[in-house]
Amino acid sequence: MAVRPIIIAPDKRLKLACEAVEGVNARVRALMDDMLESMYASNGIGLAAPQLGVLARVIVLDVARADDESQPLRLANPEIRWASDEFTDGDEGCLSLPEHYAPVIRPDRVRVAYFDYENRACEIEAVGLLARCVQHEMDHLDGILFVDHLSALKRNVILRKLTKTKKLAAEAAD
Ligand code: NI
Repeated sequence: MAVRPIIIAPDKRLKLACEAVEGVNARVRALMDDMLESMYASNGIGLAAPQLGVLARVIVLDVARADDESQPLRLANPEIRWASDEFTDGDEGCLSLPEHYAPVIRPDRVRVAYFDYENRACEIEAVGLLARCVQHEMDHLDGILFVDHLSALKRNVILRKLTKTKKLAAEAAD
């Protein structure tokens, strides 16, 4: 396992649609392990493969509280099979948009089909934070960031700040 660098927005690699994986083989398992390690290293609760520059439909999640035992989830080719009619509003952040948070409205519950670490077909019904997190990560697989759910005005404020931060970091590195 290895911690890999997480791509920071704005970056066109975060705006691309990802390809389904052809089964969870050793290569996909290694990717899932690296994704989890990279996510934990940044104290995240979810990560999608494109955030590491890999355009594959793979996401990892762990919404356990810091003082509880970890509950890692590794999902390949996730698909939403059902979503509740009830929606909730909750603050979201993203490891690719560090230090920015904004409320996003999403279905409160979803049922998701996917392939697990052993390439078994599985389904989970997610509620609350897990439901929000899995929808956020699945958005990444279609090149959608949480700021894309906000007004253009709010989105541009955040993206401009990120651009500025990147520029300053690049200048400092020179
Ligand atoms: Ni994200």
